Amino acid sequence: MKGYAMSLNRVTRWSARAAWVAAVLLVAACNDATVPKPPEPAQAPKPKTSMVPSLVTSAMAAEAPGATASAASGAAAAATSASPAPAANASSEQIARGKYLARAADCAACHTSAAGAPFAGGVPLKSPFGTFYGTNITPDKTNGIGGWTADDFYRALHDGVAPDKALYPAMPYTSYRQMTRADSDAIYAYLMSVKPIAVPNRKHDLSFPYNMRFGMRVWDWMFLKDTLPDASKGQSADWLRGRYLANALGHCAECHTPRGTFGQLDKAKPLGGAALARIAAPDLTPEALAARGWTVKDLQTFFGTGIAPQGSAFGEMYPVVHLSTQYLTPDDLRSLSTYLLGDAAPAPKPLPDNPDTSKLTAGRNLYLAVCAGCHAADGTGKPHVAVSMLGNSTVRQKDPRNLIVAILDGIEPQKFPGLEAMQDMPGFDRRLTDAQIAELSNYLRVAYGGQAGDVNSEIVKQLRQK
Ligand code: HEC
Ligand code: HEC
Ligand code: HEC
Repeated sequence: MKGYAMSLNRVTRWSARAAWVAAVLLVAACNDATVPKPPEPAQAPKPKTSMVPSLVTSAMAAEAPGATASAASGAAAAATSASPAPAANASSEQIARGKYLARAADCAACHTSAAGAPFAGGVPLKSPFGTFYGTNITPDKTNGIGGWTADDFYRALHDGVAPDKALYPAMPYTSYRQMTRADSDAIYAYLMSVKPIAVPNRKHDLSFPYNMRFGMRVWDWMFLKDTLPDASKGQSADWLRGRYLANALGHCAECHTPRGTFGQLDKAKPLGGAALARIAAPDLTPEALAARGWTVKDLQTFFGTGIAPQGSAFGEMYPVVHLSTQYLTPDDLRSLSTYLLGDAAPAPKPLPDNPDTSKLTAGRNLYLAVCAGCHAADGTGKPHVAVSMLGNSTVRQKDPRNLIVAILDGIEPQKFPGLEAMQDMPGFDRRLTDAQIAELSNYLRVAYGGQAGDVNSEIVKQLRQK
């Protein structure tokens, strides 16, 4: 399964590392006099500010060098310390609601591996800090969360704290923090009703200093906030529900908002777009969406089916649609789409009438020779074969990155909800040179995307090497 790849450039990575060591040492220096006892796990979450200092010290006590706490003994402690709320208490309605919410929040993306049982963990999640593995969240007492109470569960989603440890923000509690207690309880009831699976957790493969888990308390203290900034304006019931679906459940910001030095979300650029591993998550602000031709109706179609007149979901967005948004009710699809464009949605930008392609003959000939067989000579695509290039949102992006990467890498075969099935798109990295891909991209951008033909072979070369 495609991971939740995060990206930071090389310079940022090194300064992040240095700054991280400094921050962690500072906290260590403030706490080295005594090793205090870990506090009792709180039954109800306390306000963030009063919680941080005690958690910093307790996490340090548990994981300071020489301490015996390991993942395995931690899990065992968790299994004996809490008395689970019997799932039998849950009504079938609550469990059904929990199932719906778990899909809307896409828990499976990181906790269900391609070959594994539902929620048994093991999904690799690549990041600049190393590889995380989604954990076993089935009700298995030893390996999963069978020993957890509904309070423990809420604290994990809301504060990023498990009974035995501070969690890494690779678990998107930055977003889930906005989830209501009732919704957390429903997801808990649902997870307690799935089959317990005795699969042990895989150890994360992190580089120094990020392998020091207690550093996470510093991170939370600096970056964990009660709300996420909005990318659009509105106050209708649809907009409010959409905000909850996008920010709290769907955690769209985790991929679509750029990140700072420590991997934190850049609060100044909500949904402003971010480069992930290879394919970038595009800018989803209302103006940017409208500039690529999106309307509320077309967004609903995209989230519901994975294919819209503006193109198909691919890269890391494909599992989002496949595992999560396709299951949303029509009302929720409308709300999510309304939230993205705002109550006063900007009008979709039309394509220029007669783009001048007279200087782009080489690109046009390449298009006709290698692409038109699937995407059609006039660029309008072919039903059940390939999407339209004319007005395609990937072609309409100012940043040519996704267009170039799609041409280089191709797109693996994907299933779409309902009747739609398309073949895979082959990669052209071996068949076309950097210069040819640049010519082709420029032709597509000008002819079908209303963009400038400003791609050069250097950009292609860099993306080929990445
Ligand atoms: C983007 C990937 C991602 C998504 C989406 C995600 N998780 Fe996680 N989750 C993780 C990772 C990674 C960990 C391990 C974190 C750690 O070890 O600190 C984790 C840990 C947890 C834990 C702690 C388990 C333990 O044994 O300590 C719980 C509980 C949990 N997730 C529940 C959920 C639920 C419920 C959802 C959906 C509402 C969800 N997660 C969605 C990545 C994710
Ligand atoms: C064998 C058929 C085939 C050929 C040849 C082909 N494509 Fe595609 N292309 C597809 C399919 C199918 C998709 C949608 C895949 C999906 O999302 O599952 C696609 C998707 C794309 C996308 C991503 C846009 C989106 O909305 O999904 C771009 C960009 C693209 N093609 C460009 C090209 C270019 C440029 C060429 C020529 C170098 C080309 N394709 C050749 C079948 C093809
Ligand atoms: C795991 C990372 C990830 C998450 C989470 C994610 N996206 Fe995406 N999204 C992407 C990537 C990568 C693309 C680019 C590929 C494509 O166009 O399908 C994308 C594309 C899109 C597009 C198409 C934009 C365009 O103009 O082509 C929309 C709309 C979108 N995402 C909305 C959302 C919403 C809403 C959510 C939350 C419910 C969300 N995404 C969650 C990674 C993600």
